[in-house]
Amino acid sequence: MNLKELAAHIAAEFQKNYGRAPRWIAAAPGRVNVIGEHTDYNDGFVLPMAIEFYTVMAADKRPDGAGIVTLRSTSQPDTATLDLAQTIKPAPPKWGNYPRGVFAGFQARGVNPGGLDVLVHSTVPLGSGLSSSAALEVCTATLIEAVTGKAIDAEEKALLAQKAEHDFAGVPCGIMDQFISALGREGHLLLLDCRTRKTELVPMSDPSVALLIINTNVKHELSGGEYAERRAQCEEAAAKLGVKSLRDVTADQLERGKAKLSEVVFRRARHVIGEIERTLHAAEGIRQSNWPTVGQFMYASHYALRDDYEVSCPELDAVVEIAEDIGYKGGVYGCRMTGGGFGGCCVALVKADAVESISKKIASDYKAKTGIEATIFSSRPAAGATIIKS
Ligand code: GLA
Repeated sequence: MNLKELAAHIAAEFQKNYGRAPRWIAAAPGRVNVIGEHTDYNDGFVLPMAIEFYTVMAADKRPDGAGIVTLRSTSQPDTATLDLAQTIKPAPPKWGNYPRGVFAGFQARGVNPGGLDVLVHSTVPLGSGLSSSAALEVCTATLIEAVTGKAIDAEEKALLAQKAEHDFAGVPCGIMDQFISALGREGHLLLLDCRTRKTELVPMSDPSVALLIINTNVKHELSGGEYAERRAQCEEAAAKLGVKSLRDVTADQLERGKAKLSEVVFRRARHVIGEIERTLHAAEGIRQSNWPTVGQFMYASHYALRDDYEVSCPELDAVVEIAEDIGYKGGVYGCRMTGGGFGGCCVALVKADAVESISKKIASDYKAKTGIEATIFSSRPAAGATIIKS
C-alpha cells in the first residue's frame, strides 16, 4: 500500500473504532541500513534509507474533553491509555510504551496536545530489524506536531524518539533508526555522522540496481541483552585505549593497543573501526555508481558482524551464502545482515532486471537449507515522516 492508500485505510479503520472520522493523520517509515552496523553508538557513520513501509496514526480530539489519550492498534489486542495530567511513566501494555515515551518527551518540554483518541496501523514488519519501533516513535511525535500545529526540528524530534526508546523500552539504541525515519528523503540514502550529526543525502536512483530486503523470519530472543553487552564492550575498548569513542581509533592504533584489550573486546573494536571505514568507502562507491565495489564492502561488513562482532545467526548467514552462490553473474553485487542482528533481515544489492530470478532462488534455497519461508521484497529509498492530514 502506498501512503495515500494507507491514509484511506487508517481513516476507515478509525471510523470503525471510534465512530467518526479522524482529524489528523501522520506517517513515519521503517528503514533498512545499507551499511554501517553497530557504529552509531560509537560516534561512527551509518548509511540507512527509509523504506516504503510505514507506521500511520490517525487521531481526533476526545468528544468528552478529558485529558486522556487512548491508543488503539490494528495489530494489538490491548488498548493503551495515558493521563496527560500525570507524569507519564512506562506501563503495560508493552507496545504502548513507544508512543507513551514520546508523549512523555513532549510533556517534559511543556507541550500538551490535549486528550485524544488515536489509532495505530503499521506495514513495517514487527521485530524484523526494520525499525518498527523507531517508526512508531517518530510517527507519534509527528502526530503530536500535527495536533499542536507546532513543528519541532527534525533532529530534535529524532532525539526525543530515541530517548523514548531508552527510557520506556529499555533499549540503549544509537541514533540511526530515529534519524532516518525522521529525515529520510525519497531517492536518497542518508550518510549520517553520528558524532557531529551532520547528514549528507546520497542519491540512489540508478534504475539498473535495486535493494532487496530478505526477512529470515527468525528472531532470537537474546538480542536485548546482547545489544547492551556489545555497547559496553565498545565503551570498554575506548576507555582502555584512552579515547572518547572508537571513532577516534584507527586500525593501526588498535593493533598497537591490542595488548590492553581482551581477545573478545579486541574483535568487537576491530569490527567497529573497520565498519566505519567501509561505510565511507561504500558511500563513495554509491556516489560513483560503482556497484561491484559497494557489494564487496557489504559482504565484508557481514563477515565482520558474523566473526568479530558475533551478532549474526545461522539463518542470516544462510541468506548471505545463497547470495554469494548466485554471485555477480546471477546479478548479486553484495549482501549482508542489516539492523541489530540475531535474526531479522538481510539487505542485498542486485541488478534490477534480475530481482525476480534472485528472489525466487533465495526463497527456494533458504527454504531448503532452513525449512523456513523467507519474505522478500524490494524498496526504493522513501521519504521520512510526514503529516498526511492536518
Ligand atoms: C539497532 C539500533 C541502532 C543501531 C543498530 C545496529 O537497530 O536501534 O541504533 O545500533 O541496531 O547498527
